[in-house]
Amino acid sequence: MIQLKVELGSRSYPVFIGQGLLSSDRVLGKVLTKEKSLVITNKKVGSLYFEELETAIRALGVEVTPLFIEDGEKHKNLETLSFIYDELIRQGYGRQSSIIALGGGVVGDIAGFAAATYQRGVPFIQIPTTLLAQVDSSVGGKTAINHSLGKNMIGAFYQPEAVIIDIGTLSSLPKRQVSSGLAEVIKYGLIRDAEFFSWLDANMHNLTNGQTEALCYAIEKSCSLKAEIVSQDERENGTRALLNFGHTFGHAIEVSGQYTKYLHGEAVAMGSMLALNMSRSMGFLDVSDVEKVRTVLKSAGLPTTPPNLGKSLYLKLMQRDKKVKNGRIRLVLLKDIGEAYISDDYDSKSLEFLLSMEG
Ligand code: NAD
Ligand code: GLY
Repeated sequence: MIQLKVELGSRSYPVFIGQGLLSSDRVLGKVLTKEKSLVITNKKVGSLYFEELETAIRALGVEVTPLFIEDGEKHKNLETLSFIYDELIRQGYGRQSSIIALGGGVVGDIAGFAAATYQRGVPFIQIPTTLLAQVDSSVGGKTAINHSLGKNMIGAFYQPEAVIIDIGTLSSLPKRQVSSGLAEVIKYGLIRDAEFFSWLDANMHNLTNGQTEALCYAIEKSCSLKAEIVSQDERENGTRALLNFGHTFGHAIEVSGQYTKYLHGEAVAMGSMLALNMSRSMGFLDVSDVEKVRTVLKSAGLPTTPPNLGKSLYLKLMQRDKKVKNGRIRLVLLKDIGEAYISDDYDSKSLEFLLSMEG
């Protein structure tokens, strides 16, 4: 088992990565409060993994109840949150009770926001079961629900007590979802670690084939890069925004597909291609760098040709980005593979030209 730490002073917490951790009362025992716990999950994930987790929690003498929410991004909303609050109150959960998120990023984000706000904050544990949640959403304390006018518009920074990553759960994950998570893994290499990017280039077939050792290394590397960034800038006043590489374009693509056409990672992959081309227009990167990234994304099973939305729609949707400052869209671009920066002094005409080429 690998153990990392997100360093945030008194709110620091461990990230455990390994096989069989779901049923490890040793790991759970280190982080679970002794009062009762509510496991928020959905029917799909719950039917696969709740029983194992339940046995481990009961072995610690802690009462545990599952709460099933509807599956899918469209249920990451106020209605589901309200349902969770109703159950927490009805079943008498108190401040020493734990909320455990068992599932992908949707479950993690909404359970985390419920934990942040119920009785002004109760202990929370993330047990992510998608690759995307294991390498990104479960670490760093961003919790949120969507509003009909925008994604993740209502939320809080609220750090978990621990993140428990059981890579065994990836065995049941559909290939398309694995690819979606790989987009975020590739992102870490692009923004922060050229050597890791080269490793991904050489090992992508092992990752797409679900090889345990390769997956473990990619998850460990991704989590440690994210932990380092979050430790430096928990509330995204600077460096943390680099984690949004490909996302400003990607969110526009995701919204255009009404969150059903493209998975998050697919939109990020296409958004990354736009960000790379924009970086080139700033005088950074070679064509060969851009093509190399395209090859890696493709070998991860990801799309690399952004949809034709037209520049007006792209710009309108990109204006909703949380990084927009004084009406100006700020872009995360690359100076080189492994070196990202935030730019607001790009040439608007170049951006419009790029988006109209796509549109
Ligand atoms: P998801 O939670 O919708 O999971 C994808 C699908 O896989 C779902 O149908 C789910 O039920 C299923 N699933 C989960 N684990 C499984 C398993 N082990 N085996 C089989 N099926 C399984 O999607 P996601 O990609 O995990 O997360 C996307 C969400 O994460 C979005 O809402 C996004 O906004 C959020 N997100 C948050 C952060 C953050 O920092 N908080 C970062 C990135 C993304
Ligand atoms: N997923 C981006 C972040 O956590 O900041």
